[in-house]
Amino acid sequence: MSVYIILLGPPGAGKGTQAKVISQKLGLSHISSGDIFRENIKNGTELGKLANSFMVKGELVPDDVTIAMISERLSRQDCQAGALLDGFPRTAAQAAALDEALVKLGGKVNAVPYINVPEAVLVERLTGRWTCREAGHIYHEKHNPPRQAGVCDIDGSELYQRSDDVAETVIRRIRVYLEQTAPLIAYYRQQGTLLELDGALPIDQVSQTLLAGLAERL
Ligand code: AP5
Ligand code: MG
Repeated sequence: MSVYIILLGPPGAGKGTQAKVISQKLGLSHISSGDIFRENIKNGTELGKLANSFMVKGELVPDDVTIAMISERLSRQDCQAGALLDGFPRTAAQAAALDEALVKLGGKVNAVPYINVPEAVLVERLTGRWTCREAGHIYHEKHNPPRQAGVCDIDGSELYQRSDDVAETVIRRIRVYLEQTAPLIAYYRQQGTLLELDGALPIDQVSQTLLAGLAERL
C-alpha cells in the first residue's frame, strides 16, 4: 500500500528542510512543486517561463498547470511506494484534485504534518536562506550555515539566494499563503490526518517530533 504525506506550512516554515531529512528515512520520493518549477526555469522550458512569471511576483502558478504537472509526477515509477509532497496542494482545488488522483493510484492522503511557525520569524528565515544550485540543498546564514560560505557542503556547488526571497516578495507570498493555502489546515483537520508541529524549534527537534508523530500514525 502506497503512503502519501503532505508537508503543509507557510513559506519558510521548513518544509524543504524537513523533507530532505525524512524522505530517505521513510523511503519516499520528495516531490516539491517549487523545485520542479525551478528546474524548468533553469532548463528554459515553456512551463518554466510560465511559472516564473507568477513566481517572481510571489503569486501562485495556475491550478490547471500545477495539478497536471504533479499528477504526472506521481504516476512515475519512483512514486510507486508513495510520496512526500512539499508545496502541493496549495489551494482547495489542488487538494480536491489530489484526492481524486490518489484514488486512481489506489492510495489516499495518510498524514499531513503542519509545520506551524509565527509570521514574524518567516521573513528572517527566507531573507537569510541560501540554496544550492545543483540539487536545492537548503542553508541559512545563521541557523544552518554551510561549512564554507557560498558552497554546498553536500555537492560543492554554488549557493544562491532565490529571486523570490527578497523581503517584498516574501511578504506577498505569506499573504497568498494565508488567503489560499491556510484554509487547507481545516480541511485536513476535518479528515483526521493533520499533525500539528511547532516549527519554531531547532531543525533537529522538528525532525524528531515529525518522525515520532508519523510513526504513531502510519
Ligand atoms: P516553494 O518553493 O514551495 O516555496 P514556499 O512554499 O514559499 O516555501 P519555501 O520553499 O520558501 O519554504 P520551506 O517551507 O520549504 O522552508 P525551507 O525548508 O527552505 O514555492 C515557490 C513558488 O512556486 C510559489 O510562490 C509559487 O509561485 C510556486 N508554486 C509552488 N508550488 C505551487 C503550487 N502548488 N501551486 C501554485 N504555485 C506553486 O526553510 C527556510 C529557511 O529557514 C532556510 O534557510 C532554512 O535553513 C531555515 N530553517 C528551516 N527550518 C528551520 C528551523 N527549524 N529553525 C531555524 N531555521 C530553519
Ligand atoms: Mg521549500
